[in-house]
Amino acid sequence: MKNKIIWITGATSGIGEELALHLSSLGAKIILSARRVEELERVKSKCKNEVLVLPLDLSENKRFDEKVNKVIAHFGRIDVLINNGGISQRSLVSETALEIDRKIMEVNYFGNIALAKAVLPIFQKQKSGQFVIISSLSGKFGFFLRSAYSASKHALVGFYESLRLEEETHGIKVSIVFPGLIKTSISQNALSKDGKSHGELDENQAKGISAKKCAQQIINGIEKEQLEIFAGAGELKAVTLKRLFPKLFHKIIRKQNPT
Ligand SMILES: NC(=O)c1ccc[n+]([C@@H]2O[C@H](COP(=O)([O-])OP(=O)(O)OC[C@H]3O[C@@H](n4cnc5c(N)ncnc54)[C@H](OP(=O)(O)O)[C@@H]3O)[C@@H](O)[C@H]2O)c1
Repeated sequence: MKNKIIWITGATSGIGEELALHLSSLGAKIILSARRVEELERVKSKCKNEVLVLPLDLSENKRFDEKVNKVIAHFGRIDVLINNGGISQRSLVSETALEIDRKIMEVNYFGNIALAKAVLPIFQKQKSGQFVIISSLSGKFGFFLRSAYSASKHALVGFYESLRLEEETHGIKVSIVFPGLIKTSISQNALSKDGKSHGELDENQAKGISAKKCAQQIINGIEKEQLEIFAGAGELKAVTLKRLFPKLFHKIIRKQNPT
């Protein structure tokens, strides 16, 4: 990681913050992005190496080429883009207005891929670069109250698996990350049916591994250039269970606490 130029979105809290701190301590130079500038400055002050603070809103995703130009003007290259920023959901399909579905897709999917499309010409010119995409176990299977969230995380998988096939001969790597339950503010910040914040740390979330441990697992996978990186604990077994025994998986998951 030493001297690698690594751009992290969603860097103001949770997994993104811990990735920034850990990668910086390994000698990487970091670009920190999210909406809250004062929080980006706070994370910067904890980093050990050079940092560029570059605020961006994933829902305002039409001019990301300007952000990329700023990074290139500062560092001259980009080695890794960690597309981590995102927002979750806690609302039933039957009570969620379509505009909330669109909002979640705009941040988690369109914002994410818009940044990747702006970075792609740089990776192509360099003939190297790694996209690291934070999907979710919800990108492997649906769950109560997360219809749009789960759809956005599945959509990322389809997009980036296609991108990988198209670009791997140009030296471009894609690693897709599937975190399980990680104890962060994701459930507090999740959108409820009226677009307001859910505001609660869910019981399941509270039982998750720490963001720090999650970041270590992700960095391990980035270094190995794994195609799929799983981060979490026992809940990850659900992926194998669904693949091998889909009916049994359904019987078990429908009995889970829907928070
Ligand atoms: N925690 C889990 O259990 C879990 C499990 C699976 C996947 N994930 C995924 O991991 C990623 C990080 O989540 P987290 O758990 O670390 O939650 P978090 O603490 O709530 O962090 C979310 C980050 O995304 C940023 N963000 C939200 N909306 C944004 C927008 N419109 N534009 C730019 N940045 C935005 C937030 O920064 P600002 O508010 O400053 O913009 C924040 O830095 C997400 O993609 C999430 O879906 C988390």
